[in-house]
Amino acid sequence: MSYISSRLSVVKPSASMAASQAAKALRAKGVDVIDLGLGEPDFPTPAHITEAAYAAAKAGQTLYTAAAGTPEVREAVADKFKRENGLDYTADDIVVANGAKQIIFNALMATLESGDEVILPAPYFVSYPEMVKLLGGTPVVVECPEATGLKLTPELLERAITPRTKWLFLNMPGNPSGAVYSSVELKALGAVLAGHQQVLVLSDEIYEHIIFDGREFVSFGKACPDLRDRSLIVNGVAKAYAMTGWRVGYAAGPAPLVKAMATIQSQSVTSVCSIAQAATVAALNGPQDEVARFRAAFEARRNLVVDGIRRINGLTLPPPEGAFYAYIGCASLIGRKTPKGIVLEDDTAVAAYLLNEGRVASVPGAAYGLSPYFRISTATSEEVLAEAIARINTAVAQVE
Ligand SMILES: Cc1ncc(COP(=O)(O)O)c(C=O)c1O
Repeated sequence: MSYISSRLSVVKPSASMAASQAAKALRAKGVDVIDLGLGEPDFPTPAHITEAAYAAAKAGQTLYTAAAGTPEVREAVADKFKRENGLDYTADDIVVANGAKQIIFNALMATLESGDEVILPAPYFVSYPEMVKLLGGTPVVVECPEATGLKLTPELLERAITPRTKWLFLNMPGNPSGAVYSSVELKALGAVLAGHQQVLVLSDEIYEHIIFDGREFVSFGKACPDLRDRSLIVNGVAKAYAMTGWRVGYAAGPAPLVKAMATIQSQSVTSVCSIAQAATVAALNGPQDEVARFRAAFEARRNLVVDGIRRINGLTLPPPEGAFYAYIGCASLIGRKTPKGIVLEDDTAVAAYLLNEGRVASVPGAAYGLSPYFRISTATSEEVLAEAIARINTAVAQVE
């Protein structure tokens, strides 16, 4: 008999990690594979942030901190929300955790009762449904087609809400869609929520700074101030400052929720690494020119990928408005045969074909709740992206 909790029976490991592992396994056999499975900035953390971490360690900032974060980091986060998003929060409204992922996990743990429903507009970030299931909730997946820009609409939202709905998750710019909601679109969703007092909103804004074509980023909190008492605004330093490994995420929200999340933290991880918190203060309060440089590089890569994929007969790509992924439609490949006679039954088969024959690792749309698509990460050099597109082109052209 297994000693693993039955809780785990419903949880899948991360699909992007799995894609990366498959790429590594092929590489170990000597196959030259381009891995576009995992998404993280390929830039080093800006030097002044790393220097601040050294300085903090040398100055003895090496002890446990308050569970919700040091006063300095929570002040810096409150200032960031004011400066960049026009949101009025105090340090008491802020909680810091080991990544945005832990923020989301803590928020669900603090609120979900068995069978509570969480609305997940698809395509969604792979970890959302798994966290919901792990904590006894029920993911309610709402497919958001290309016709709506891969975004949730008021009609789709209204139809998905039931008396058991506890949360609506929003993510903008979206992983994997790259979709960005305008203020008008957010207000329209807010109007639906106004009629459903039991629904909390989690707005995952971690890709806020990776946004293209001069678009303005509008936080859900700014668009829907009337819902402040039931909104959790989630963000972090991972993507904006190339700090994925430092593991710092943060959120602003209603006091009872933030307090409950800090309690969970105090009884599990105690606090975020004190040195990483000092680095976060430097990231948020320091010069922001590297953030702008990263953004420009991601936009150039987005342009290259959109242009390249659109030239491939059989693939579609609505231009991502932000983040560093391309969610590529492959409907016209489904049901067709590879040169080895394998029928491409679904997007999992397409991704497997692209890996084994095209030597490009991607993640099938099935992992994100909306098929048939596959996701590639564009967080790599233009040279590598150009080579990957050429390989995808060759592989797709061979499908009969
Ligand atoms: C939408 C989304 N939210 C959260 C995260 C995780 O952020 P963190 O590294 O701060 O845990 C990711 C990382 O890929 C993401 O894509």
